[in-house]
Amino acid sequence: MIAIDDRTDHHVLRTAFGCFPSGVTVVAALSAESPVGMTVSSFTSVSFDPPLVSICVRRSSTTWARLRPAGAIGVSVLGAHQADVCRALAAPGDDRFTGLAVETTPRGAVFVPGATAWLECTVHDTVPAGDHELVLLRVLGVDAGPDRSPLVFHSSGLHSLHSTTGPTVSGPGAATQPRQPRQPRQHGAA
Ligand SMILES: Cc1cc2nc3c(=O)[nH]c(=O)nc-3n(C[C@H](O)[C@H](O)[C@H](O)COP(=O)(O)O)c2cc1C
Repeated sequence: MIAIDDRTDHHVLRTAFGCFPSGVTVVAALSAESPVGMTVSSFTSVSFDPPLVSICVRRSSTTWARLRPAGAIGVSVLGAHQADVCRALAAPGDDRFTGLAVETTPRGAVFVPGATAWLECTVHDTVPAGDHELVLLRVLGVDAGPDRSPLVFHSSGLHSLHSTTGPTVSGPGAATQPRQPRQPRQHGAA
């Protein structure tokens, strides 16, 4: 095991953290009537009552500084076919949305069509967390297409999910009756 101290190269931690696979989201809102957003893989569900999710954002992020004051923030959970959206929304510069169709809510949350889920949120709380900020988002509304295959971020790469067991429901809060496998839905408009 590699001992971690203040001088340890971040690459060591990044490699270990990257072994934990995650989904990929786009977090976006209107700022001065233009869409502002970024790719975020640190999204996690947190609480049902109240409905909370969290993201971790780098404290130096100029994008988060513009998103933070927004009245509402959209979280789009990207599908396996949206690797190009993931890359575009992580790119440097102000033109991340060029050529990308978006949907905007009356509160100013911005969503990416074709994603697997959409959550309209407001900032509930923030907690300083080293070089990142832990942001708790309160969920105001959701829409979801759970049969759409998600984009997966693992070991610095983008992947799609290959099910080995078919749909299972065994986590906390799961329905007590096993669900029947669903027929895949057509991908298309959100
Ligand atoms: C797959 C992926 C996941 C990312 N996840 C996060 C994240 O969870 N938090 C974060 O602050 N930045 C994350 N980023 C980086 C941002 O998308 C973006 O590159 C960064 O905000 C750019 O810096 P800026 O906000 O100063 O323009 C991720 C990038 C990629 C490609």
